[in-house]
Amino acid sequence: MSQTPNNKDNIILSLEQLTKKIGQQTLVDQLSFQVRKGEIVGLLGPNGAGKTTTIRMIVGLIKMTSGDVFIQGKSIRSQFTEAIRHVGAIVENPEFYSFMTGLDNLKQYQRMSEGVTEERMQQVVKLVGLTDAMNKKVKAYSLGMRQRLGIAQALLHNPSILILDEPTNGLDPAGIREMRDYLKKIAKVEGIAILVSSHLLSEMELMCSRVVVIQQGKYVTEQLLTDSTNKIASNDGVKLMFIVDNAELAASTLHSLPLVNILTVNVEAQHVILQTKNEDVPSIVSALSGQGVGIYRIIEEKQTLEDEFLKWTGGGQIV
Ligand SMILES: Nc1ncnc2c1ncn2[C@@H]1O[C@H](COP(=O)(O)OP(=O)(O)O)[C@@H](O)[C@H]1O
Ligand SMILES: [Mg+2]
Repeated sequence: MSQTPNNKDNIILSLEQLTKKIGQQTLVDQLSFQVRKGEIVGLLGPNGAGKTTTIRMIVGLIKMTSGDVFIQGKSIRSQFTEAIRHVGAIVENPEFYSFMTGLDNLKQYQRMSEGVTEERMQQVVKLVGLTDAMNKKVKAYSLGMRQRLGIAQALLHNPSILILDEPTNGLDPAGIREMRDYLKKIAKVEGIAILVSSHLLSEMELMCSRVVVIQQGKYVTEQLLTDSTNKIASNDGVKLMFIVDNAELAASTLHSLPLVNILTVNVEAQHVILQTKNEDVPSIVSALSGQGVGIYRIIEEKQTLEDEFLKWTGGGQIV
């Protein structure tokens, strides 16, 4: 997924110091982040972190206490109609007439909203893989199919951002996978942004190009994710284990080099674990060789998002 993090023109959704207080409790605390065109961003946090409250404020279902939300530059606070027309969202479970067909449900919605063409209806139905099920009654749909019908409905008016609150809740693993694939396809085909919340890290890793982590209503961090792997795109460089014939000599050689952060020296196991920048690896290898250290292997220690996540949130709260 292409991203241009510094391009302001591509910002579809912007939260600015968004805050929700109820009585003494601060449910969402000065939360700021942006979502850009074509991105799938995960709003990730344990249960009770404030994800639903945040999303409900974004779509105007509840009032914000302070701060603001901008959609395509329009304020939800002061330009609600102009802002909200760029949004397609499912916040609570999508409600349908179960005795009517999928198609009739969409037509019902079409009558209530302006400018939705027959062609657009066919287009969104195809996009969520419901073409064959359109003439079936909704009561015969699986939960996953209902969710997808909800997404089709949310897409009808050509929004610039699709917002979904825990869309995979209650789905079985096959349904989760299906949902993930459809969301990726939608982001690509429609060229729109998607904001999706979840308490499941494993799910976000496979679906999102970026996660914004919140806890107790507060922003914790955000992280770009590489597309298909479990690896995080880290600014910290690489973590390498050198297995050598003389760990002591290796360590003393490494100590004299700039920009090498030695993490572990294990003389018994004859290894040294260090952190460095990619571009410094060749000079480390030649310095070690120059000092007569024999290198048997260099193994990269990959940090998973899960490791990182546990660091961010103090551990234990997210599976
Ligand atoms: N209407 C409300 N009144 C008081 N507290 C609420 C209300 N709605 C949610 N909360 C509390 O706000 C916190 C965040 O809830 P929520 O946004 O539902 O979190 P999440 O969706 O991340 O699980 C929780 O502690 C929840 O108990
Ligand atoms: Mg929730």
